[in-house]
Amino acid sequence: MIKVNLGGCSTFVEDAQYNESVGKALAAFDTLVAGNGAGNDFLGWKHLPSQTPESLIADCEAVRDGWKAKGVDLVVVIGIGGSYLGARCAIEALSHNFARQLGGKKAAAEVVFAGNNLSEEYLAELLDLVAERNVACIVISKSGTTTEPAVAFRIVKEYIEKNYQDASERIVAITDAKKGALKTLSTQEGYRTFVVPDNVGGRFSVLTPVGLLPIIVAGFDARAMLAGAAEMEKVLSERSAENPAVKYAAMRNLLYSKLGKKIEVLVTYNPKFQYLGEWWKQLYGESEGKDLKGIFPASVNFTTDLHSVGQFIQDGDRVLFETVVHVEKANRSVVIGTDEQNLDQLNYLAGKHVEHCNAMAELGTKLAHIDGGVPQVEISIEKIDARNLGGLFYFFEFACGVSAYQLGVNPFNQPGVEAYKKNMFALLHKPGYESQAAELEARLK
Ligand code: PA5
Repeated sequence: MIKVNLGGCSTFVEDAQYNESVGKALAAFDTLVAGNGAGNDFLGWKHLPSQTPESLIADCEAVRDGWKAKGVDLVVVIGIGGSYLGARCAIEALSHNFARQLGGKKAAAEVVFAGNNLSEEYLAELLDLVAERNVACIVISKSGTTTEPAVAFRIVKEYIEKNYQDASERIVAITDAKKGALKTLSTQEGYRTFVVPDNVGGRFSVLTPVGLLPIIVAGFDARAMLAGAAEMEKVLSERSAENPAVKYAAMRNLLYSKLGKKIEVLVTYNPKFQYLGEWWKQLYGESEGKDLKGIFPASVNFTTDLHSVGQFIQDGDRVLFETVVHVEKANRSVVIGTDEQNLDQLNYLAGKHVEHCNAMAELGTKLAHIDGGVPQVEISIEKIDARNLGGLFYFFEFACGVSAYQLGVNPFNQPGVEAYKKNMFALLHKPGYESQAAELEARLK
């Protein structure tokens, strides 16, 4: 279902170098499969596709249907990092580009996201929106203590409590089974809760309720997504140099270590995949960027960004390589018409599908970028749908585990994320952090 094509790297690396890197990737694969590497208490994501019980999907559907019965038409999903990016990626990829503008009778509630920033303006405008709608909220935080979602939730919770008598039925929390402020609050307020398993880290949690509940509430097919992921789980369990995750990990580590390619740009050719880039950047950035190592993950959406950072990719510092997510088939069809006057000189395209132009842009860009010194890895999926997206999620997660072990880092921790939090807490005079405030304030003068 997913194919990894390394042809766009062949002029940059020698076969012997690649084979050596494959050997290292296979050793990393063994570590991941055996579960005896660093961070091995966070491997619960590996068997989620094949082991998620039907009852979990049914429970998520019950939330969706319960809210539908109340006439809920807007669900605010509160979370940050791994607690929102997977759901956002899936919902953006599977939604009609103009769903909101089309209006009409909606089969499912509209999902909007909050708690992923600390912008006052964003929250003020969210309150403008919820005031117009029939609202429910899913609050997601594994730790239950993250500041951004906690602030947003306090504000949305207050709004819901003031405006609905059945407030506690309009809030669902997804958090740790036992600990954290959100768990305590949920127990006290009687919210329905779903669990983020202990052994699944945020950025690997899209196939837990963290991703599944928002995706189901938004009206998409989580069963198909899990089925696609389960197919991929099976494919990737084969120990082979042809394993797509081994190929991807081997090549990206080789490009990094031997050719000094320190930036990987995830390239997509469909605006629906903008958030695939955001999800992927967190997955790889947080998993690999540590111990002064790692490939910096960037993302672009072509052809849009060929008219902005395309210049740098073609001609700038040769520190990057591209990973293109190639989609074989478009879901919709628009054919370019003939114009008698042909003033726009586009009649040479008459009768052609727009996607044909997109495909030629993709091929032309591939050759141009290779000529410009940018190696290209290609990851193909059949089309953008729930099944393929599930496969793609699992592929990138598994390959990330292999790749990080090959790089020699723990894929499942994120010690660097704490540094800004400590400073922010001190500057906010959070109890317990006051002693560092004076020093930080002096440094900022
Ligand atoms: O991948 C991770 O672990 C992080 O990005 C977390 O998902 C993010 O920091 C949010 O954490 P929490 O779910 O505990 O609020």
